[in-house]
Amino acid sequence: MSQTETATTPSNDATQGGRNALEVRDGRTGKSYDIQILEPGTEGDTAVRGADLRQMKVNPGDFGLLSYDPAFMNTASCKSAITYIDGDNGILRYRGYPIEQLAEGATFLEVAYLLRNGELPSQGEYEQWVHDITYHTYVHENIKRFLEGFRYDAHPMSMLCSAVAAMSSFYPKAKNIFDPAERSISIIRLLAKMPTLAAMIYRHVKGLPFVYPDNDLNYVENFLSMVARMSEPKYEANPVFTKALDVLFILHADHEQNCSTSAVRAVGSSHVDPFSAVAAGIAALYGPLHGGANEQVLRMIEEIEHPKNVPAFIDEVKSGKGGRLMGFGHRVYKSYDPRARIVKKLADEVFQQVGMDKDLEIALKLEEAALSDDYFVSRKLYPNVDFYTGLIYRSMAFPTDFFTVLFAVARTAGWLAQWEEMLLDKEQKIARPRQIYIGPAERQYQSTLADKAPRTRKDSIRR
Ligand code: CMC
Repeated sequence: MSQTETATTPSNDATQGGRNALEVRDGRTGKSYDIQILEPGTEGDTAVRGADLRQMKVNPGDFGLLSYDPAFMNTASCKSAITYIDGDNGILRYRGYPIEQLAEGATFLEVAYLLRNGELPSQGEYEQWVHDITYHTYVHENIKRFLEGFRYDAHPMSMLCSAVAAMSSFYPKAKNIFDPAERSISIIRLLAKMPTLAAMIYRHVKGLPFVYPDNDLNYVENFLSMVARMSEPKYEANPVFTKALDVLFILHADHEQNCSTSAVRAVGSSHVDPFSAVAAGIAALYGPLHGGANEQVLRMIEEIEHPKNVPAFIDEVKSGKGGRLMGFGHRVYKSYDPRARIVKKLADEVFQQVGMDKDLEIALKLEEAALSDDYFVSRKLYPNVDFYTGLIYRSMAFPTDFFTVLFAVARTAGWLAQWEEMLLDKEQKIARPRQIYIGPAERQYQSTLADKAPRTRKDSIRR
């Protein structure tokens, strides 16, 4: 990178393919700079290093130019080889494999292996992976007591977040994150125990006794057994539900640098253990603009009550008075969400089994109304993955506030793959964004209090 003192007019070199650089002229100083354009990614993404702007100063004591990008709308925080999204064309691939093909043919644990290891497993590798995850499904008995401490109406996501954070205390060696063996066992433990925790939370809310894992069953069957088994000696899950849940887990397994994954990477970049980093991801996922949207879709549908109320609801959304149309819109997908297409097909299959209900009718009407309305079309707002998932989960009798827990179980695979990739990336450091300070300039402290004596509790009761 070079810096010239003279103002120059931009040359045509780059357009002629001569130089892989951005010529920038700082209008404050008249100086010109060459900013190197990084090697493009596999699919042609190009970028410049934000830190290269720092050389642009108005005087030697100046900190240098920052890039300002609230919500990271145009900032790549990492190089990643895990998931590729082309939002304009509705493309999602894990490690190069189209999501449609994985949803059609793979199992969730195969996908979890692929996300972490970069390649599909051989038969032997798959059997070992499934064995290891199955072997670690049990949780420490104290976790049971820990969960029993929650009120009956605690939100399942609060419980999951706390339980995963608490698990960090059960595995103190998990903080040895640069020991590959410790990393591996933590990843296996998290993938293995997440369905157990989720099912325990479900049973706690319902006031039902916890069901221990049945390691003869596959990942999803075992989860459904821990959720729904009563007095029967062996739980037999509905195969349509098992298949649907496995596909939904695949669809939710990863989604590159979304809010919760960025949280896991940022928290993990402090070199905390993976249980704590994943707990941060769960907290981020809980929000209604992220994973919490599937819950909000159902709440919105319940509020609409009847298909005849759909037009009035759409008008309210457009006027800004009625909140957002939940399950619509996406930061990245601007033509359609490929996951939503698969989910809609899956919903058809599940509803053939359990029958169509009024809420599905409302959802179909909402989708139809929004897709033919200029407000939504002009803003490129299409159904996202969460629009139909809630309806499927509810048809399987999962309570509305449990939906995001199902998302979290699946996303754990992606969080862990991204966490490990971040740790092994030599370019990564502790995440620490800059800010543009807009508060008061330096001023002198003068107390605004007449009485500084703190009030005692007794005092405050008396008053
Ligand atoms: N309903 C109505 N208007 C919307 C919606 C919506 N769902 N989403 C965006 N808009 C409008 C928004 O008001 C703005 O309009 P204007 O330009 O007139 O101010 C415009 O569209 C652009 O919105 P934005 O907030 O700048 O878009 P964003 O990329 O920051 O937000 C989003 C993406 C997903 C947060 C947003 O579309 C949203 O809130 N959707 C509803 C919540 C939801 O379904 N979330 C799940 C996302 S997919 C699963 C996941 O990632 O967890």
